[in-house]
Amino acid sequence: MSAPVNLLPHLEARDALEAAARASLRAPSVFNTQPWVWRISGHVMELSADPTRRLAVTDAEGRLLLISCGAALHHARVALAAAGWSADVERLPDARKPDLLARIQLTGYPGPDPTAATLAEAIIRRRTDRRAYGDRRVPPAALARLAELAEAEGSQLHEVPDERVPELSVAVDEAADVEYFSPAFRSELTRWTHRPAWTGDGIPPSTVVRPAMRRVPSRNFLPGGTPGLTAGPGGDEAASYVILAGTDDHPLHLLRGGEALSAVLLQATAEGIATAPISEAVEVPWPRRLLRRLLAADADPYLIVRLGYPDSGEAPPPSPRRETRETIRILS
Ligand SMILES: Cc1cc2nc3c(=O)[nH]c(=O)nc-3n(C[C@H](O)[C@H](O)[C@H](O)COP(=O)(O)O)c2cc1C
Repeated sequence: MSAPVNLLPHLEARDALEAAARASLRAPSVFNTQPWVWRISGHVMELSADPTRRLAVTDAEGRLLLISCGAALHHARVALAAAGWSADVERLPDARKPDLLARIQLTGYPGPDPTAATLAEAIIRRRTDRRAYGDRRVPPAALARLAELAEAEGSQLHEVPDERVPELSVAVDEAADVEYFSPAFRSELTRWTHRPAWTGDGIPPSTVVRPAMRRVPSRNFLPGGTPGLTAGPGGDEAASYVILAGTDDHPLHLLRGGEALSAVLLQATAEGIATAPISEAVEVPWPRRLLRRLLAADADPYLIVRLGYPDSGEAPPPSPRRETRETIRILS
């Protein structure tokens, strides 16, 4: 039976919130900007966007920032449920504070949820795997499970059928070209791929791959540089591509899109499926319109995800995270 939260020791509740906030810091974020901050007070934790970490050129409208924060929010929800806590989540709770994205209030202790525990375990193992994947295809049933999870989080996951992957490839390629020839974009990319280790953010060379022939090009994070990982032996022929989408770009829907992204990535990780988000094509207006053609009418594309089975038993190297004292503030 669920114990009401006010009968539980205050410190236990506090520890649970802190642990959930810490787990959320492993969430994926665009350019590993980690554009979030948590405030914990009593039985409540609040997630805010950190607008100083928005990518002014790559993400001028802050869409990818909201998706990244949504992923952190879902990670925290999973961690709380796995630890046994139930909670109410209020999204965008104060219209006067647009950066305040969510308020989570503990409501009781029904006990650990085994489904959430599986996902929570995947939080630690999940990594963006930019290498080529092996020859085994992701079964339709697994893709259907991921689509159901995205739907349960209020978004949609569209599989790109093989015969339409060339259209996806054109959209990504066109966007990459536009960005490559933009000095402002190149300088933002350079800033986030050449971070001093103490910042605990950005994309380290050890996690990116050398450009290689792929059905859909992978982002060249270090144009002219020498990345640490080889792209992988195969041509990535068996990879699946899905597009995460929502109804529009209302902040609430983008936040929910991020929650759906986290649900999809964690479930995939739990099933041994490697994942890599791809966002160039949503960063540039007209490739984004090309993506729309791959979706059902009226859907707004949020992010592409490449899925497949790793070709190597070795996990890709982890990316860094900021210090918790910068991202989690304990108020009382
Ligand atoms: C909204 C969003 C957009 C992203 N876009 C890309 C992308 O275009 N290419 C890429 O290789 N990784 C992309 N990523 C993955 C991030 O770079 C990655 O999450 C971050 O570097 C942290 O690494 P991790 O996922 O291994 O923890 C994206 C992630 C998010 C959440």
